[in-house]
Amino acid sequence: MRNKIVAGNWKMNMDTQETDALIGTLKGQSLPADVTVIIAPSFTNLDRANQAVKGSKITVAAQNMHQASHGAFTGEVSVDMLKSVGVDTVILGHSERRSDFGETDNIIGLKVAAAIVNGMTVIFCFGEDLSQRESGSHFSVVKKQLEKGIFDLPNSALSKVIFAYEPVWAIGTGETASPEQAQEMHAFVRKTIAERYDNALADSVSILYGGSVKPNNANEIFAGKDVDGGLIGGAALDAVGFAAIANSF
Ligand code: PGA
Repeated sequence: MRNKIVAGNWKMNMDTQETDALIGTLKGQSLPADVTVIIAPSFTNLDRANQAVKGSKITVAAQNMHQASHGAFTGEVSVDMLKSVGVDTVILGHSERRSDFGETDNIIGLKVAAAIVNGMTVIFCFGEDLSQRESGSHFSVVKKQLEKGIFDLPNSALSKVIFAYEPVWAIGTGETASPEQAQEMHAFVRKTIAERYDNALADSVSILYGGSVKPNNANEIFAGKDVDGGLIGGAALDAVGFAAIANSF
């Protein structure tokens, strides 16, 4: 269902004590009833984070998972491991996984399929880098990422996918896409989903923007009619600011 969503990707930040403190402060903030609020702490803190958010409207996601169900994959975490600590949402395809850890469109497609088959909700990230934006290939890059990552899924799976457009040049750089650039790409994504599936399904999915979203720019970015919220990195590490972003619709 198309929802307003604010998701915090904590990346490799926050040890156990810091995780407890951040969640504690976040629970004390006023969070709007009609906005889904998700946080994605590190693997080591997922279990306690999931306990800590009980009784609040916050839900917990993982930042990654392996595509195989189990086996000799040193250092990896499976879908069953996530589910066994009550986590049923996972971020997949983040640009840092793509560029720093060699995750190809094909690997990400396998991960998405494995997550969906196992009943997970996927926050699927995609977006062009600076050279692709400058050369004008950003629409075709995004279309290919959607095709490889998502478009093998049946119609029934789309309700379990949250889309997250994250232009790489805006991640952690302080530079955001302009509200017009974000809206333009989000409209393109919705159109591309409509062409593969249908209009009703395309209208029903949530498409988040990610890349240097802050309390002082969230409102204008979220104003785009195809922008349903944000995937927040750096600004999610401050509970007051993150809550302010959730209140920016
Ligand atoms: P940022 O990260 O908000 O720090 O730019 C966004 C993301 O990587 O999801």
